[in-house]
Amino acid sequence: MSSPRNLCFTVSSLALMIISLTVILKKWHCGLREKDFGDAAPSMDLTPGRKRLLQQLRERQQEIVPFYITSQQELSEMKPKFSSVDGEHTKRNKTLWNAKTSGSDIGCNDLSGMTVVDFLGAGYTKTVLKVILPQGVSVALKSVNDQGTDMRSCLEDFKDPRGCQELVSFKLRKEIVLLQRLQHPNIVKLRGQCQDSALAGGVMAVLEQGTPVQMIQLLQRPWEERFRVCLGLVRLLHYLSNSPLGSVALLDFQPRQFVMVSGELKLTDLDDANAGEPACQAHSDCLLRFPLRNFTALCSPHGICEGLNEMRNLYNAYRYFFIYLLPHQTPAALKPLVDQIMNATGELKQSINKTLEVFEDILHVYKSGMYLRNMPISIIKDYAVLKGIGTAGNMEYKCWLSYSHQGCVLSVYNATEAALICNSHPQCTSFSVSGQKTWTGRLLASFRSGFSHLVPDVSSTVYVRRSKASAAVL
Ligand SMILES: Nc1ncnc2c1ncn2[C@@H]1O[C@H](COP(=O)(O)OP(=O)(O)O)[C@@H](O)[C@H]1O
Ligand SMILES: *[C@@H]1O[C@H](CO)[C@@H](O)[C@H](O)[C@H]1NC(C)=O
Ligand SMILES: *[C@@H]1O[C@H](CO)[C@@H](O)[C@H](O)[C@H]1NC(C)=O
Ligand SMILES: *[C@@H]1O[C@H](CO)[C@@H](O)[C@H](O)[C@H]1NC(C)=O
Ligand SMILES: *[C@@H]1O[C@H](CO)[C@@H](O)[C@H](O)[C@H]1NC(C)=O
Ligand SMILES: *[C@@H]1O[C@H](CO)[C@@H](O)[C@H](O)[C@H]1NC(C)=O
Ligand SMILES: [Mg+2]
Repeated sequence: MSSPRNLCFTVSSLALMIISLTVILKKWHCGLREKDFGDAAPSMDLTPGRKRLLQQLRERQQEIVPFYITSQQELSEMKPKFSSVDGEHTKRNKTLWNAKTSGSDIGCNDLSGMTVVDFLGAGYTKTVLKVILPQGVSVALKSVNDQGTDMRSCLEDFKDPRGCQELVSFKLRKEIVLLQRLQHPNIVKLRGQCQDSALAGGVMAVLEQGTPVQMIQLLQRPWEERFRVCLGLVRLLHYLSNSPLGSVALLDFQPRQFVMVSGELKLTDLDDANAGEPACQAHSDCLLRFPLRNFTALCSPHGICEGLNEMRNLYNAYRYFFIYLLPHQTPAALKPLVDQIMNATGELKQSINKTLEVFEDILHVYKSGMYLRNMPISIIKDYAVLKGIGTAGNMEYKCWLSYSHQGCVLSVYNATEAALICNSHPQCTSFSVSGQKTWTGRLLASFRSGFSHLVPDVSSTVYVRRSKASAAVL
């Protein structure tokens, strides 16, 4: 079993990287159980700065209250309980937290035996560490970034470390409740949380672990992988437009707010999400400004900017993801559909629903090999088929956007499409297909310019190009 001492050792070895957690642990060790911030002195003693801080705390609290509430009825029942920042309120609030955390979730107790093994990332508000829990599970642990811009500017304004910790923590609390209410395959999974300040001195979220989104790396991936990222994003935005909390806008929409989990894009930073459309009096209140384009939504008779959140999300998806990931090296048969998406989203001419429809169409055409119908399928006859055979001593050649860095490995619908590709590569003399599949279920084919001998391999079939067979090293 890991002891706190064990944990301290690990932490000190990573000390420079993860100062924030060290602070948390120090508090924990010295048993500094300060009084709840809510039990502060009576308001007459408050300096103007402290009053402002309390005001901000109250505002942040008000901001997240609606997320806990599922129905209007619950809302009316809840309101009085959340009316002030006092001890009574805190107690009720804790009950609420506990009710929200199901038994199987990872909680404060599991976290007390964790080992910090790596630093995963940090932003203005939060720090993310890779930790191993006593059960041996590896997870991402989010806590407040004590060195972050949010904390610094709060300290500058109020010079109150305890109050600022509380204030910034609200962003993480907001994120936790949003992760509970908004569940989708393209939103990072909340595996647990700890909000017991007595134990570890801060709010912590336990998340499934991902890797940062690296655009440069993604650009070098095959089209199918890049399409997967964009499709995941569109599915997410479709969900957010029709979510249990209404239409949700991501105000800080950038690749760094997402992580990759086994090839799938997942949103991880939700503290800047906004539920519900903005209020308005005139259409001009519904202006959406981007560096290169402006759009306006319509102000509805009910005084809300209709569809503004969806427009904001979709245009951001276009300018941060689609432009880079979607067009280049699109399979020829899919190009018209991809062009249509680029044109329509770049001008916000189509809704997220319609955009998702086109994306799903593309996926269907791609998976079903429909686009091969007009291809000269008889060319497969130019190849000798060797079933249950693999190759050894291969002479590889490299091709653009290959799944493998060493050779030419591409995704194909079937052997006929692979033959078409082999015919179009002057170096190609043979290819083989194994049981390996991509996320869409398509086959991976390896193309090569020669091989020294054949070997038995039940999972593989080799196709040798007859016209080139004499040239190949056999
Ligand atoms: N589940 C995760 N797995 C791996 N890295 C993560 C995870 N969540 C966040 N990160 C990394 O940590 C960084 C900071 O997290 P984020 O929630 O964006 O904090 P902030 O609100 O301060 O921007 C992210 O940019 C990302 O690189
Ligand atoms: C929740 O509880 C914390 C303390 O545990 C308190 O500071 C905060 O104001 C409460 N907020 C809400 C919305 O529950
Ligand atoms: C967008 O609108 C703002 C304010 O109305 C204006 O100043 C800006 O020039 C517009 N930008 C573009 C690209 O039209
Ligand atoms: C997209 O826009 C370009 C330029 O405006 C146009 O030439 C092209 O035909 C459009 N494509 C589609 C599919 O709408
Ligand atoms: C979009 O799709 C969702 C669910 O598929 C549906 O509930 C919603 O009404 C649609 N929106 C529009 C504007 O058609
Ligand atoms: C590959 O798929 C195309 C289109 O469905 C089909 O015509 C062709 O016969 C298939 N080739 C093989 C080898 O199965
Ligand atoms: Mg972030």
